Amino acid sequence: MRTLVSELKEKVGQTVKLYLTLDVLRDQKHLQFILGHDKSGSIQLVVSKSKVVNHEEIGQLLQGSAFIVEGELIESKQSRFGMEVQVEKLEIISKAEAFPITDESSIDLRFDYRAVDLKTEKSRIIFRVRSAFIQGCREYLLSRGMVEISTPKLLSGASESGSQVFSVKYFDKTAYLAQSPQLAKQTGAMMLEEGVFECGPVFRSEESRSSRHLCEFTGLDIEIAWLTLEEIMKLEEEMLCHSFKKLEPFKEDVKRVFGVELITEPSIHYMTLIEAKEILKSHGMPLSKEQDLPDEGEKRLFEILGKDLIFVTDYPIAKRPFYHSWDREKGTTKSFDLIMTGIEITSGSVREHDYKKVKEQALEKGVRLESIEEYLQTFKYGTPPTSGFGIGVERVVAKLLGLSSVKEASLFPRDPDRL
Ligand code: AMO
Repeated sequence: MRTLVSELKEKVGQTVKLYLTLDVLRDQKHLQFILGHDKSGSIQLVVSKSKVVNHEEIGQLLQGSAFIVEGELIESKQSRFGMEVQVEKLEIISKAEAFPITDESSIDLRFDYRAVDLKTEKSRIIFRVRSAFIQGCREYLLSRGMVEISTPKLLSGASESGSQVFSVKYFDKTAYLAQSPQLAKQTGAMMLEEGVFECGPVFRSEESRSSRHLCEFTGLDIEIAWLTLEEIMKLEEEMLCHSFKKLEPFKEDVKRVFGVELITEPSIHYMTLIEAKEILKSHGMPLSKEQDLPDEGEKRLFEILGKDLIFVTDYPIAKRPFYHSWDREKGTTKSFDLIMTGIEITSGSVREHDYKKVKEQALEKGVRLESIEEYLQTFKYGTPPTSGFGIGVERVVAKLLGLSSVKEASLFPRDPDRL
């Protein structure tokens, strides 16, 4: 019967059968030392050449090879695990060729061999943390009574007028890949006032080769009825705190493999964009009234304030889409961005719900009313106000683990050069 590495502690002195993947093999005169792992952990094996018939073939095995091994588990002071398996039988299941990349290879070369890159411990931790982060958020949202939805990714028009859109042939028409679930999630929250959320693909045809942009990323989108700007930000704060806390079990591995302290209890700060600009100005970075926060400004704010999560509110109308709630007198919107250790991970807002104003704002932003006809119906026939936000999952994971690019948090990243 199969034993998992994590179950070995209770099995010292017994014969165990492990299903492993090889990490490192050292072949000595009489002995072979193998470091292998399964889904639950790593272990050292010792092959005594006089006892194992296929030791020559075993000696040829390279990193990535899969095998089933049987042997006695003994205590061992020399092994960093405090125990090792003395191999009696080793059945080779899959023989790996030499990896074309190493930990030192450039990020581009690693992406050229992404399937191999995904075999490393680093990748395993990235995708476990990513899953646990999403799960933590989902858990919080469901516990609040919110409903998980799936919105269409093939649309008849652009969902975010500001950013670039991919078009695809759709029978005799053109369809557009959703740049966000914005319009559909708002309609969802008007139906289900307790709130809706979705975790799904988002497509942006951005010619950007930066470390923070993907052409396809995972969006965690939330929308809920009747919450003010302060309340919707609080919801996100609570959700992130809940989720980050759940990452506690990864702390040790993250420290060992990535050399960073995983944030499990984030420090938090709230400020308006005007306040943010005043701080930046006093540190030698003047920005005009109409200007958005540039990437460098987000980074500097974090360096100056030292807070993990900085909510920045009240962005100017000129920088925000038609569906936000605008305050024409002040020239601002009921909106926010959330900056996590120096990069924007979220945009959100209270939405405009007045039918006439939504139409006016759409026209002012150059959105054709025909392209949002279905969306407009939701306002025409009465609706509670809603608010919400969208999180870029890869950006959060990249920040949590100190990755050099968001692409490392995407299984098979899509950028202008990679499909
Ligand atoms: P926004 O366009 O700011 O807002 O996107 C929300 C969040 O998604 C992430 N993000 C990206 N991640 C990787 N690659 C990209 N190219 C990319 N573009 C955006 C960022 C960003 O903060 N509908 C609104 C949200 C809302 O108001 O509910 C929206 O899409 O982390």
